[in-house]
Amino acid sequence: MNTREAASPAAAAPLVELRAAGKRYGNIIALRDVSLEVSPGEVTCVLGDNGAGKSTLIKIIAGLHQNTEGAYLVDGQEVKFTSPREALNRGIATVYQDLAVAPLMPVWRNFFLGSEVSTGWGPFRRLDVEFMRETAKKELLDMGIDLRDVDQPIGTLSGGERQCVAIARAVYFGAKVLILDEPTAALGVKQSGVVLRYIIQARDRGLGVIFITHNPHHAYPVGDRFLLLKRGQSIGYHEKSEISLEELTGLMAGGAELEQLVHELRQVGTSTDEVRVIRDEIEEDTAAGVGHVPVTEAVNIRDLPETEGK
Ligand SMILES: Nc1ncnc2c1ncn2[C@@H]1O[C@H](COP(=O)(O)OP(=O)(O)OP(=O)(O)O)[C@@H](O)[C@H]1O
Ligand SMILES: [Mg+2]
Repeated sequence: MNTREAASPAAAAPLVELRAAGKRYGNIIALRDVSLEVSPGEVTCVLGDNGAGKSTLIKIIAGLHQNTEGAYLVDGQEVKFTSPREALNRGIATVYQDLAVAPLMPVWRNFFLGSEVSTGWGPFRRLDVEFMRETAKKELLDMGIDLRDVDQPIGTLSGGERQCVAIARAVYFGAKVLILDEPTAALGVKQSGVVLRYIIQARDRGLGVIFITHNPHHAYPVGDRFLLLKRGQSIGYHEKSEISLEELTGLMAGGAELEQLVHELRQVGTSTDEVRVIRDEIEEDTAAGVGHVPVTEAVNIRDLPETEGK
C-alpha cells in the first residue's frame, strides 16, 4: 500500500465514519441513511428506543454485519469488514452488554482471555501467570479500579465492575475506538456513575468512544455528540453546545410518548375544566337515557381515595 498517499487524507480523517449508511435484513430496513463521525478524545452517544437500530449500527461498526447502503470508513478509508476480528485489528473494540466472560476464572485471566501471554520456549513454554496478574492489577489501578484481589473469580464482581474491567482491557490492548452497548442499562445509579467515569477516562486517553444508551441522563454528562435514532433513521445529530439535556430528553422517543401520556392523564380529570367537560358529557348522556350514573357521583377523580392499593 502506498502510505504516503494515504497519509494526508487520513491525518484529518475521523477514526470511524459512516456516510449515509443503511442496513437491510431481507425486506426489513433496520437502518437508513445514518451518518456519524468518531474522533479521538470524543464520546459519541447513540440514543434511541427499543428497535431504533442502535445494535444494528454498532454491529456494522464492530464488523459483525456489513452495511448494505452508504459507506463505512476507518481512518478515511472505506472498509468492508467480514468479521469482528478484522475490526479489532484496526483498533475497534466492542464491549457487549452480556460481557462474554468466564465467571469462574480469575479477573486477570479474563483480562487476558484470548490474548494470553506465554513465557519460555519449546517444551518449556507456559502461561506467564505472574506477568498477566501484575499487568492486570496495574492496568486496573491506572484506570482507578482498585480491586481487592485480581485472583478472585470475575463472577464475584458487580456488573459495573465487570464493565470497568472490560473497558480497561480494551484500553490496554490498544483500542482506538471503544464501543459500549448499553453498559449502564442494568445498573443502579451509583454503579452507572462508576461506569460513566471510566468512559471519561477512556476519552481522556484519546480513544474515540461510542456509547449506546437509551438514557439521556447518562449520555448528556459524558457525551460530545449525540446521534438520535428512531425506527432506523436519524432524527438528530447534535454537538453538545447545540442541545440541552431537556431538548435531548424531549427528542427521545420516550419524551414525546410521555407527553402524550401526561395529556391523556390530564383528560381523565386533574383539571377542573376537563372534569366539567366530562361531567357535561355524562349529563347529556344521562338526559338521553344512556348512562345511569348520578351526575353528582359521576367524576371528580381528585376526590377519590388514594387508590385501593394492593
Ligand atoms: N438479524 C436481523 N434480522 C431481521 N431484522 C432485524 C435483525 N436485527 C435487527 N432487526 C430489526 O431491525 C430493527 C432494529 O433493531 P436493533 O436491534 O438495531 O434495535 P435497537 O435499537 O438495538 O433496540 P434495543 O434497544 O431493543 O436493543 C428492529 O426492527 C429489528 O427487529
Ligand atoms: Mg440493541
